[in-house]
Amino acid sequence: MRLFSHLSRTPRRVINFGRPLSPLRPADRELPDWMQARVPSIRASLERARALPSGGWYVVDASRRISARPSFYWVDGHEVVAWRSAGRVLLAPNSCPHMGAPLSAGRSERGELVCPWHGLRLGEPGHGQWKLYAAHDDGILRERPACC
Ligand code: FES
Repeated sequence: MRLFSHLSRTPRRVINFGRPLSPLRPADRELPDWMQARVPSIRASLERARALPSGGWYVVDASRRISARPSFYWVDGHEVVAWRSAGRVLLAPNSCPHMGAPLSAGRSERGELVCPWHGLRLGEPGHGQWKLYAAHDDGILRERPACC
């Protein structure tokens, strides 16, 4: 009993081993973790994805990265050009049906691609064997923040 009361009055000594820990950097504290997950948003995205027809579709890019300016993609071993016309995403073979110019190097005007070599205008009606691919912008895929 006496020994216990003696110990309780003794000031506590802290013994440190090794180097002191460095304080957390702001970037370390801002990384997302499971506590920040928005379950209703994830559930809604999953339900939208399940409602879509499945099979035979390829993800090309985040929706907001496809603009009116033609962009080049490799999709399942094929060269594809993607651009946006009146809010819709359009995809087609990247090769011009005239002499094979890369259409992603051209520009789009009023929803049509303009070939960079001879100016052939290509759009939804197609041109001979050159036809648009089926494209679906589900808006589900969003870009991840640059930090992750
Ligand atoms: S190669 Fe495209 S118009 Fe000639």
